[in-house]
This record gives sequence, structure tokens and C-alpha cells, in this order.
Amino acid sequence: NNYCVIMGGGIGSRFWPFSREAYPKQFLDFFGTGRTLLQMTYDRFAKIIPAENIYIVTNALYADLIKEQLPQLDPSQVLLEPTRRNTAPCIAYAAYHIRALNPNANMVVAPCDHLILKEDEFLEDVKKGLLFVDGQDALLTMGIRPSRPETGYGYIQSCEDGADGFSKVKTFTEKPNLDLARIFYESGEFFWNSGIFLWNVDAIINALHKYLPDVTARFDLGLPEFNTAEEHAFIAQNFPYCPNISIDYAVMEKAENVYMLCVDFGWADLGTWGSLYDIAPKDIHDNAPLKTQTLLYESSGNVIALSDPERMAVIQGLKDYIVAESGNVLLICKREDEHRIKEFMADAQMLH
Ligand code: GDD
Ligand code: MG
Repeated sequence: NNYCVIMGGGIGSRFWPFSREAYPKQFLDFFGTGRTLLQMTYDRFAKIIPAENIYIVTNALYADLIKEQLPQLDPSQVLLEPTRRNTAPCIAYAAYHIRALNPNANMVVAPCDHLILKEDEFLEDVKKGLLFVDGQDALLTMGIRPSRPETGYGYIQSCEDGADGFSKVKTFTEKPNLDLARIFYESGEFFWNSGIFLWNVDAIINALHKYLPDVTARFDLGLPEFNTAEEHAFIAQNFPYCPNISIDYAVMEKAENVYMLCVDFGWADLGTWGSLYDIAPKDIHDNAPLKTQTLLYESSGNVIALSDPERMAVIQGLKDYIVAESGNVLLICKREDEHRIKEFMADAQMLH
């Protein structure tokens, strides 16, 4: 009864210009390992979830990229969204689709912009979580001990450690501002939301009924037979009416039956250049050249990424910058100002 849903429809705009709408970060091989983030996510789950029960939900734009990167998937395992509506509608689609196939299904829902360094621990935790949610009206998330007051994550306050690392969640705050993130971090009572969720199909559909009735009203009209022209027509007609909202804001902040499993499996989010810089291999001056030939003088603390391996970056006197080139854009931006990249991307798109 175990299913996996990989969410792979984001744009990764905080990674611009490397991550593009036409080719987002999940389809990139950042470290030259030969596998992209999406492929690594798939490979991990394929170790414990039956191959036919692994689904990808993504934007229709990426249908070809998915086919290319995961040729082992049957087309019926790829759910395509006609419009970008963030993760709540994405999860609703997957839950309704899977419930119709198996009303007792338990699902683990995962982003594909993470690295997981301790895979064995991770797989044990997923198995533990799937057992926990089986037959329970519970929404489970995996929580991580924070190491800095990061504002890009959800923060979870949980009750005393329960048995086996599970605990009831008191509050969930998605992307707090810096002042609040500092308070959360310093209190020692809060965890980061990893964005990996586990539940059975009834539990998540119940929660969606409560908190996103507009969405469930549409899906309750019934998803017609699967993987047929009717399903595609149904989605094409109804999906664009779903609100554009993430599952964190829509459900996790509001629901009362949220639980957390405290985990420590070497989680690294690849949400931003800064997070990538933190985990990337560095030279003695703390420069992180990502698969990029560089010649550096009096330069330190830079992350450097050129998309063309034939090119070389020659840099003098630069400290703590992002230097990233891809397609028609070269970005040079202070590492501490990376939160402005979305704004730069929007401006650059206007000019082009
Ligand atoms: N199918 C689909 N459709 N997938 C999407 C969409 C969409 O419209 N939008 C985003 N995704 C995918 C992304 O590709 C990514 O794998 C995942 O959903 C999460 O989206 P992000 O946009 O990366 O979310 P976030 O990083 O801002 O925040 C989430 O993750 C954090 C941890 O990395 C939240 O769950 C936070 O609470 C959490 O701390
Ligand atoms: Mg993310």
C-alpha cells in the first residue's frame, strides 16, 4: 500500500540563472555525479517503494525532460499539471489519483531539491513514517534540528519527544521573517520542516476538504478513468481554477492533526545558492567552483558556476560573491544579497 509522490514542478527561481523556467534545478546535475536531483530522488525511493507506485507530479512543460531522465517510468506514473499552482493542488491531484487506484494507500510526498547524505537512515525513517500513518488520521512531516535562523523554511514547534522520535506538532510557521526565525532558532524548541510529508490518502483528502474546499469541490466531481483522454481533459478544465498555494500555508499551518518525526539523515536543501555553497567542496580560500574551471587570485568565499565546461572563470579580488552564467545571462551578486535574485530574474525577463 505504499506510494511515493515526487513533486518536481518548481522553477527554482532562487537559483537563477542556472535554474530556468525551461530547465529548472531538479533536472540539473550540480555536482557532476552523473545523476540529476530528480534522478537521485527517484533512485532513493526506488529502494523501498515498489517501482510501479512511484509517481512524479510536474508541470506539463517538463514532460519531455521527465521522459528523458526517468525512462523507466510508465507514462501513467507522470501526472502533468497544465498550470503552475504550487504544491497544494499538486498534492491534491496525486492524492485523488492514487486513492482511486488504492483507497488504503499511504503516501510519502517528497520534493526533489534535496540532498540526503545518510541514505540508510533516511530509508529507515521513511519506512517508520509509513507505518505510523497507516490507518491514522495524521499528517506527518519530517523535522530537522535547525543550524541557523534561515527564513526559507517552515518552522515546527513540537511537544516533548514522544516514543520513537514522533511527536505532536503545536505550531507550524511557514517562512517566518528574520526576527521571528531568530526567536525560533534561539529558543531551541523549533525544528525545520524538511518538506517531506507522509499520510494516508484519506487523511490528506480530509484535511484538504477542511482547508481547501474549493480544490476538493473540483476533484470530488470525480477524476475519470485514469490516464485516459478524459483524465487529461478533466485536469485541463479544473486544475487552472485551483488557488496558487503551497501545502505548507494551505494545510500544515492550520491542521490540528500534524505530527513530526525528528530526523537526522544529513539533509541538505538545495533551495538557494547559499545552501549549495554551504555543502559544496571548497578550495583553501573557501571558493566553491561547481564543475567549473577557474583561475582565482586574491579571491575568497565565492561560488562560481559556468554552465559550459569549456569556459574558464578568471577572477581577481572578489570576495563572497555568486558568479553564475547560463544561457544568455551572467549573474554577479553578493552572497548575502541572494534573496534579491527572484527580483533580478523578473527584471531580466522583462527586458528580454
Ligand atoms: N508538481 C509541482 N507543481 N511541484 C512543485 C510546484 C508546482 O506547482 N511548485 C513547487 N514544486 C516542487 C518543487 O520542485 C520542489 O521539489 C517542492 O515542490 C517544494 O517546492 P519549493 O518551491 O522548493 O518549496 P520551498 O523550498 O520554498 O519550501 C518547502 O520546502 C522547505 C524545505 O526545503 C516548504 O515545505 C518548507 O516548509 C520547507 O522548509
Ligand atoms: Mg525548496
